[in-house]
Amino acid sequence: MNTVKSVRELRAAVAQARAEGKQIALVPTMGNLHAGHAALVQRAVQRADFVVASIFVNPLQFGASEDLDKYPRTLLADQEKLVNAGCHLLFTPDVEEMYPHGMDGQTRVSVPGVSEGLCGASRPGHFEGVATVVSKLFNMVQPDLAFFGEKDFQQLAVIRTLVRDLNMPIQIIGEPTVRAEDGLALSSRNGYLTAEQRAVAPLLYRTLQEIAAALSAGDRDYAKLIQHAQAQQTAAGFSPDYLEIREANSLQPATADDQQVVIVLAAYLGKTRLIDNLSVDLSKSV
Ligand code: PAF
Repeated sequence: MNTVKSVRELRAAVAQARAEGKQIALVPTMGNLHAGHAALVQRAVQRADFVVASIFVNPLQFGASEDLDKYPRTLLADQEKLVNAGCHLLFTPDVEEMYPHGMDGQTRVSVPGVSEGLCGASRPGHFEGVATVVSKLFNMVQPDLAFFGEKDFQQLAVIRTLVRDLNMPIQIIGEPTVRAEDGLALSSRNGYLTAEQRAVAPLLYRTLQEIAAALSAGDRDYAKLIQHAQAQQTAAGFSPDYLEIREANSLQPATADDQQVVIVLAAYLGKTRLIDNLSVDLSKSV
């Protein structure tokens, strides 16, 4: 696997792969890779001939009070994981390479609708930063396919919408969340948890499973289900940010008639903000 830092080298390597008739896949990341990222790369290797991963901790998607500076940078370990997963090319630009004219005047991509509410409400400007950097990466690599984790459910919806609305000829593939044995969704932010917090954290997934089971059993009292689950979280030491049941495609608040729903949540454990979600197919529920 080659590692390149400049857009010029990236474009040259991708152009060569293209000239060899290869299908190109992109796996954008911010590094500090875990088994969830490795699974994305492995799926990309199965679907495309030439897999590009990017590692860029994008300042544009961090709020002023967020963890940009302490976000873990673990390049050597990341490179090893990418090699093991079969990645062909790694792009690791610095901030000047991504934003050579500075970030203040940078053209931004904003995706209305799906960016609003949920994480969009708690993290103003976050999805504009994500949509902007992902659009830039798409233009730099011009992949046929791009892979993202379903753990960031709203982010995936934002990216699907931007590709649709801007007519980008890229197939967006969402991959299932990879979980620890106790159910906690893998995330770079899990590393911030103390041992005590890590022991409590799997409650979030249990909450999602309990709500999913109630929905599948025919319960449609969404408000009561959410109230009960948030009380459970609070009792366990979480500060709930949001917990909602949404229609899975539009991300609009779910109605009692919706068939495909997703339960989405964000909660703080100490200073660490964790997110998770679970999709439920209610077309077969009682
Ligand atoms: O999910 C992430 O790691 C980031 O939001 C992404 C998609 C790489 C954009 O910076």
